[in-house]
Amino acid sequence: MSDKRKLLKKYMKCLDEMKSELKRRQLKKTLKTHIKALNDLECQIKRREGKHTGGKRGRVCDSSNLPHPQILEEYTTPYCRLSEEARELLEAAVVARKEAYVPYSKFPVGASFRSKCGYVYSGCNIENVAFTPGCCAERTALAKGVSEGQLTYTAGAVVAYHPKGFTTPCGVCRQFLREFACRDFPIYVANAPCPDREGAIPAIRDEDEVLVTSVYRLLPHSFSTFE
Ligand code: THU
Repeated sequence: MSDKRKLLKKYMKCLDEMKSELKRRQLKKTLKTHIKALNDLECQIKRREGKHTGGKRGRVCDSSNLPHPQILEEYTTPYCRLSEEARELLEAAVVARKEAYVPYSKFPVGASFRSKCGYVYSGCNIENVAFTPGCCAERTALAKGVSEGQLTYTAGAVVAYHPKGFTTPCGVCRQFLREFACRDFPIYVANAPCPDREGAIPAIRDEDEVLVTSVYRLLPHSFSTFE
């Protein structure tokens, strides 16, 4: 075999080797993509299983990065089955609602809160022509108590009237409320009865349904510290 032929053979061999190396690398890349897709799929399945079957992996309740406070039960009950203390709060909210200053929304709300010392503070919503400065009933009531030095509360009530159901506190009020809750406490939410023909607002009736929810239920994973 001539030298040139030998050299050509050598180059051809080299080229073949390079070709197979290239193929190997491409295969490796494809393999990597497939492995990643498989892993993602496995993660998705595990996450779903964790959610639906209560499997250990990825459960929020196992996370040490989250606080796990006691959260009260949420339920509905007829007004007459509530404790005297709960009824007192709802009644105070009904009375406060009568003073609501609502020329824009025409949606009066009343709220009341019992402080740790046992005082009841109630308030109504106060609207404003510029809209944003308006204050919800919950914050009016709490501001009254806090400004008198009452910083911890043990129960609250909200009363409004909406034909389709309960009026629960807005997001801002939930955060405001959370500030003064050392631990979870019940919030009683009732629909105010319709005003009678003379415009007077009757008391909540014994059979009226009341939603018993709680601060932590209304605002789970709340922002409560930055220290
Ligand atoms: N509002 C409250 O006072 N409390 C609530 O829980 C929900 C909303 C007031 C704000 C405004 O004056 C009116 O209801 C309509 O949004």
